[in-house]
Amino acid sequence: MKPALAAGCPLPHAIAHCSQALTQAGVAFGHGTTNAHDEACWLVLWALGQPLDSDLREPPLAHHTLSPDEATRVAALLAQRTEQRLPLAYLTGEAWLQGVPFFIDARSIVPRSLLAEPLAQGVFDDWLGHPPQRVLDLCTGNGSLAVLAALAWPHAHVVGSDISADALALAQRNGQRHHLHPRITWVQADGLPPMPETGLDLILCNPPYVNAQSMAQLPPEFRAEPTLALHGGADGMDFLRRVLPQLGAYLAPHGVCALEIGHEAEHFFAAFTGLEATTLATSGGDDAVLLLEATALQTWAPAC
Ligand SMILES: C[S@@+](CC[C@H](N)C(=O)[O-])C[C@H]1O[C@@H](n2cnc3c(N)ncnc32)[C@H](O)[C@@H]1O
Repeated sequence: MKPALAAGCPLPHAIAHCSQALTQAGVAFGHGTTNAHDEACWLVLWALGQPLDSDLREPPLAHHTLSPDEATRVAALLAQRTEQRLPLAYLTGEAWLQGVPFFIDARSIVPRSLLAEPLAQGVFDDWLGHPPQRVLDLCTGNGSLAVLAALAWPHAHVVGSDISADALALAQRNGQRHHLHPRITWVQADGLPPMPETGLDLILCNPPYVNAQSMAQLPPEFRAEPTLALHGGADGMDFLRRVLPQLGAYLAPHGVCALEIGHEAEHFFAAFTGLEATTLATSGGDDAVLLLEATALQTWAPAC
């Protein structure tokens, strides 16, 4: 029988085949795509060396049929994805966030932070009344948020800090990829980096916040990511318990911290009773991202 992904297979058939195979294998999404069709398009376009924003309905791709080499490459990548259950971005070495490409490998989680949405929408500029000048990306990992911040605000200086030297090496590559070397400083630190001389306008923080129960139920694609980057202890709040009391001192009087907490709002508000927070709606829900103002952090912290 002729294999489904043989030379001469029309591109739409190859995508439909991959989509079906991904669904049948029960792979998990959430590392750049949310469904089998989108992931199949990404997989096939990558294997063909085509840009990921290619229009598949327009010639020449609409009429493209796979060459023998292309069919082999698509089949091999599909087999890796379904058998190894790794995020596709780890297999291709590249991930995209807000249309910006990043190098990625297993040293860091795949870029997908919800904080990229308000950043791109200008929410922080509006909140502050001006573009941020001094920004900290706390728990920078792959460096994607630090890079997006430096690209969005050409006059800003950004510090990206993380405990993981491996992740920071990757972050540095991403900064170099986007020629941001002079404006981003990478710092290795457990918790907060050294206090800046001038108060910060904005702290972006996507910390490890997955609680122990959720960690135990993660699909293989998420377990392939560094545990250090995800696991936040029994209620997901261990890292934040350490740093939140100090955050107010890092911010300028008008400054703000934008914090991703995913589905952990209940745990967050139980752990930090009395801390005033504004919820920001994102594609991840109405309370997966919080804004903590300097004044709220400063008045709350002494009570801890
Ligand atoms: C959820 S990842 C965020 C990565 C990146 N900012 C993003 O949004 O894709 C959390 C990061 O926190 C870092 N981290 C974990 N514990 C830490 C600690 N005690 N101090 C500093 N960073 C820590 C991990 O190494 C990881 O890179």
